[in-house]
Amino acid sequence: MSKIIVGNLKMNLLTLAERERYLESFKKELKGRKIDDSQIIICSPSVHAESFVKKLKTKKIALGAQNLFWEERGSYTGEISATMLKNLGLEYVIIGHSERRKYFKETSLDANLKIKAALKANLAPIYCVGETHHEREEGVAAQVITQQILEGFADISSVKASSVIVAYEPVWAVGSDQIPKSDEILEVRILLRKIFAEIYGLQTADKIKVLYGGSVKAVSANQVCLEPGMDGVLVGRESLVPNEFLKIVEILDKNI
Ligand code: PGA
Repeated sequence: MSKIIVGNLKMNLLTLAERERYLESFKKELKGRKIDDSQIIICSPSVHAESFVKKLKTKKIALGAQNLFWEERGSYTGEISATMLKNLGLEYVIIGHSERRKYFKETSLDANLKIKAALKANLAPIYCVGETHHEREEGVAAQVITQQILEGFADISSVKASSVIVAYEPVWAVGSDQIPKSDEILEVRILLRKIFAEIYGLQTADKIKVLYGGSVKAVSANQVCLEPGMDGVLVGRESLVPNEFLKIVEILDKNI
């Protein structure tokens, strides 16, 4: 089964020169590799989106944003709408990332509005859920994730829901070099399938792709994705190094 590998570049590539170097290096690293049927999605900072679309977009590489605002237009200083992103040529958008929840106090109800706005504009949302270290210690991870899903998917039809990608990103694993065991990831995968089956029925539950995110590296790609049967991964730091990122793609593409 083909995998989805998302690169989240976060707030990096500060200068035009740095951006160009990244794009050149990505294309160069791509050349020597044979990627069969994986879908690569690079979520660059929005200021670079147009250039990424022009220089990197191919059948295998789609592009996305890291956030959006749910209103379409108007007096919302500093915000970017789904229609604006779609018009640049983007196809995906990350929503509800733990860093947005932490630094911008975003809730799953905010995420719900954003998911709906993305779907309306024909952008596929990549909705991030996951428990904090404290919630894990307290033994309430499953409840937390369930609530994030129920709120995030509120009033979304089963047809629309099947184009949402969910990324399970334990907050304690993001940026920390700690990762869960593969059976812990599998447990969450099973939990998500159960929740989706209850809301939408099994057919839709089977269509909703679930990724793992948090300190993914080439050496751990097997443990966090192939062993627990995930549909792919969301990669932060390693996506800034095209060579390392494409190693992850290759491992998942070839199932090795
Ligand atoms: P990381 O980030 O791979 O650097 O842990 C993952 C993420 O935030 O999506």
